[in-house]
Amino acid sequence: MKPNNFIIIGNWKMQLAFNEEIEFCTENIAVLRSLSKKSPQLTMVICPSFPALAPITHIVKNTNVYVGAQDCSPFRSGAYTGQVCAESLSQIGCHFCIIGHSERRHYNHETDKEIADKAQRLLEQELQPIICIGETQKEYEAKETFSILERQLEPVLKRIADFELSELPIYIAYEPVWSIGTGIIPSSKYLNEVFAWLEKYTSKILGKTRITGLIYGGSVSEKAAPILKKVPAISGLLVGRASLDFQKFNNIVNLYSI
Ligand code: PGA
Repeated sequence: MKPNNFIIIGNWKMQLAFNEEIEFCTENIAVLRSLSKKSPQLTMVICPSFPALAPITHIVKNTNVYVGAQDCSPFRSGAYTGQVCAESLSQIGCHFCIIGHSERRHYNHETDKEIADKAQRLLEQELQPIICIGETQKEYEAKETFSILERQLEPVLKRIADFELSELPIYIAYEPVWSIGTGIIPSSKYLNEVFAWLEKYTSKILGKTRITGLIYGGSVSEKAAPILKKVPAISGLLVGRASLDFQKFNNIVNLYSI
């Protein structure tokens, strides 16, 4: 089942250092507040880097803007130097967390099993996972998209289906790796096919009543947003680079808050 709200998530990655992140958020908070209140059908989430999470949850207090982390540990607690547990994210006021981003799959060699563990850790803390999936250029050219998506989704969705404590909405962000940061947007015909497959596959594993938002990510811009708006199964956008250009982010959000 689709969520009622359209969701727009800004993934700030590691583009800014701590001071710049705080400055960017403080400078734009008035506009963010009014954008987030403009439409009750729109949920806005910003995902800064770990050190900025706690201060940014304070800056966005009393707005409808939510804060999400870009990753979490697959473990609950223990001797895992450098990792951040889902419980800490919850304690500092995060509501969402991106997991399985292709940059983490690539640079940190994350496995589908670890991503399933992360989803479970998040749901235990009542945080909403944003699960990223997507095929590489090579896999796309070899027409392997659906087998890749199935391989990435099966362990995490089965884990969620088995984890009965939580009925929280979950989000799946389809981000073709060949589209991230390249300015290339898949055609709406291709997106319609992929999202139709995603709808069918997620409801097969999770059932039709589990609230599942299907998101698109990869080179989302003010130019691409009107094309993406024509794909009815898309119920959210994951915005990287354009989320740090406030004029662009503003224009994207405006398009969906009408
Ligand atoms: P991009 O990044 O919008 O800069 O392509 C999207 C993402 O990686 O989440």
